[in-house]
Amino acid sequence: MSRVAVLKGGGSLERQVSLRSGARVEDALQRLGHEVIAIDVAGDLVARLRATAPDVAFVAMHGRDGEDGTVQELLEILGIPYTASGVSACMRCADKVLSKHAMADAGLPTPDFYSFTETAFKELGAAEALPAIEERLAFPIVVKPADQGSALGVRFARAAADVPQALIAAFSYSHKVVLERHVHGRELAVSILGDEALPIVEAVPREEDFYDFSARYTIGRTSFVCPAQLGDALTGRAQAMALDVFRLLGCRGFARVDLMLEEDTGELYVLEANAIPGLTETSLLPQAAEAAGVEFDELISRIVEMALEPAQPARAAPD
Ligand SMILES: Nc1ncnc2c1ncn2[C@@H]1O[C@H](COP(=O)(O)OP(=O)(O)O)[C@@H](O)[C@H]1O
Ligand SMILES: [Mg+2]
Repeated sequence: MSRVAVLKGGGSLERQVSLRSGARVEDALQRLGHEVIAIDVAGDLVARLRATAPDVAFVAMHGRDGEDGTVQELLEILGIPYTASGVSACMRCADKVLSKHAMADAGLPTPDFYSFTETAFKELGAAEALPAIEERLAFPIVVKPADQGSALGVRFARAAADVPQALIAAFSYSHKVVLERHVHGRELAVSILGDEALPIVEAVPREEDFYDFSARYTIGRTSFVCPAQLGDALTGRAQAMALDVFRLLGCRGFARVDLMLEEDTGELYVLEANAIPGLTETSLLPQAAEAAGVEFDELISRIVEMALEPAQPARAAPD
């Protein structure tokens, strides 16, 4: 039994999801017999952590600050062990440009892309390069902020005329945007727990919504199937790919890797890795864990245990 600080909320756009993840984690920790200190993360975070001196922090935060390495850095400074990935892995997952470059360099398939900062548009005339990008990626092109989640600011541009609006939307969320090749196919989420890939969840849009992005994200219009009906070989390939991404980015404890299975080619492509995926009643990682026979309380218990394990050396010892 430990004193566990549950960090939740914060100022990110995913605050509400985080509050729900946090509340559910708190309930589980209480059932497990831990002493729970609930912290809605704000300006007094460091003071509260110092005052309460928890044995471990459960970071139930999504998006900016909580999932991008910021809170993790503070926990490092305070010497408080914490759940899920460390600072550098969080930074790599939170920034799609960093993670996509890392995957491409390592030979892991991720859709072709180009990325620009707002400065490149305002001061370096990057708009002049758009026709060349459009020709290489071909329409539809996906335009998204480099560092958001929950599909915020993600737009599908069907033609050149759609691109400026899509860029404006993406730049309203981030100073850096990604233009990415659209992969038409099935959407798969592979959750990782410890060093194992869990059963795959497929997000299935209603037939008529397949091409309609906003409808796909309207509550109740997407259904989730777990385990995804893929056959053993494809399931194994997707799980192995997700584990490769988890290790490449240096993740720890748990994470979720989102992939597309391209309809025409049967190829898998990695869209992104989420360092702290949702832990709510409807979230995908808890569903996947349950399909593997790991109930929510056990999931939370294992995540806390992993946080308390001595850290692995970052590099192999010299011989
Ligand atoms: N290249 C792509 N091809 C097809 N669909 C995509 C592509 N990129 C994003 N999407 C769709 O948009 C959703 C959100 O994009 P994602 O890159 O996962 O960003 P977020 O971090 O906001 O979740 C995906 O779950 C998928 O449905
Ligand atoms: Mg995603």
